[in-house]
Amino acid sequence: MEKTLSIIKPDGVSKGLIGEVIKRLEAAEFQIVAMKLINMTKAQAQGFYAVHKERPFFDSVTTFMSSGPAVVMVLKGVNVIAEYRKIMGATDYKKADEGTIRKSYATDIEKNVVHGSDSPETAAFEISYFFNRFEIVD
Ligand code: CMP
Repeated sequence: MEKTLSIIKPDGVSKGLIGEVIKRLEAAEFQIVAMKLINMTKAQAQGFYAVHKERPFFDSVTTFMSSGPAVVMVLKGVNVIAEYRKIMGATDYKKADEGTIRKSYATDIEKNVVHGSDSPETAAFEISYFFNRFEIVD
């Protein structure tokens, strides 16, 4: 069993996609072991995406991620990091497979509806960034 951090980004929340995303997570039989609605500050978003701080999109993505409410969740399952990434689709929705969340709902490379950790190390950092151990029902 593995855990990963999932975020329904501000574009997903404002488009009314919370239910749709959660429906897909449950259909995939991922266990939701933590969940909350947050509105990140710019500083919180900068800390979350610190790995990207030298990238040209850093300022824009951290402004976007702090622009409104987002849903943060911890998912648990066998190989859930990779399995959830399959359901999300590629970062660039134009390259995402048919039937993925991003192919269905993303509108640009930044407003791509969902986030998922990309490795066990990243997942450990990202989960602990938003949740303490008392908030994870494990
Ligand atoms: P995410 O998987 O959350 O990780 C970094 C985010 O930066 C990414 O999704 C996009 O929302 C955003 N982003 C904007 N431009 C780019 C880009 N050129 N490459 C990767 N990510 C980008």
